[in-house]
Amino acid sequence: MRVSYGEIGPQRPVVEPDLEPSWLTGGWAALARQWVEEAVEAGLPEPNAMVLGTVDSDGHPCTRTVLCKGLSEDGVLFFTNYESDKGHQLAAVPYASVTFTWIPLAHQVTLRGPVERTSVDVTTEYWNSRPRGSRLGAWASQQSRPVASRADLESRLVEAGQRFSVDGEVPVPPHWGGFRIRPESVEFWQGRPNRMHNRIRSRLVDGAWTVERLQP
Ligand SMILES: Cc1cc2nc3c(=O)[nH]c(=O)nc-3n(C[C@H](O)[C@H](O)[C@H](O)COP(=O)(O)O)c2cc1C
Repeated sequence: MRVSYGEIGPQRPVVEPDLEPSWLTGGWAALARQWVEEAVEAGLPEPNAMVLGTVDSDGHPCTRTVLCKGLSEDGVLFFTNYESDKGHQLAAVPYASVTFTWIPLAHQVTLRGPVERTSVDVTTEYWNSRPRGSRLGAWASQQSRPVASRADLESRLVEAGQRFSVDGEVPVPPHWGGFRIRPESVEFWQGRPNRMHNRIRSRLVDGAWTVERLQP
């Protein structure tokens, strides 16, 4: 069975007009948020999921999915374990690429830029919105490290539950928090028939945002 965008694309009705540089008049963040919102309205699963690319100490790329928890001109936020592989990689090379893909909408957005840790206030605000189970999970998991068995993992969660009383606070673990990517390049991709897709890229050049169309 051959499955590729080339086969799927032309069958999909073209319901929106062609992506134009003018769509970025309000800045990249407004359009990015609009596309996330369209994915929400379309009922797509995990509409805020994005693939995060980092580089390891050999300069090799590593990718995994994380959830976007903030999208504005100030940057793209996600939360994780600072001692995970991605945490160590971003500490060594604080630069990332993230890609959102919404296949049924034929939309993709890729953002690249330097990365910094979020402030304690920003981390705490998001932490407080998480349910107790997720908070305990963050204490229990030494993310990216090997574990002998599923049973060992579950006993770590039970231990975390015993450590913090049911009515008490579960504080932010010292190894946990957010990262903010400050994009200096943002590309919007819109699928079109015959692989004549639309690509509009906005880049920060000498402190000003430029917008250009790229060939598909
Ligand atoms: C839909 C989805 C959402 C995820 N969201 C997050 C997230 O927000 N933060 C996170 O640390 N891991 C998240 N993960 C797990 C990561 O993909 C990854 O397995 C984990 O962070 C360890 O990555 P690392 O070993 O490269 O550091 C998510 C996975 C999926 C499939």
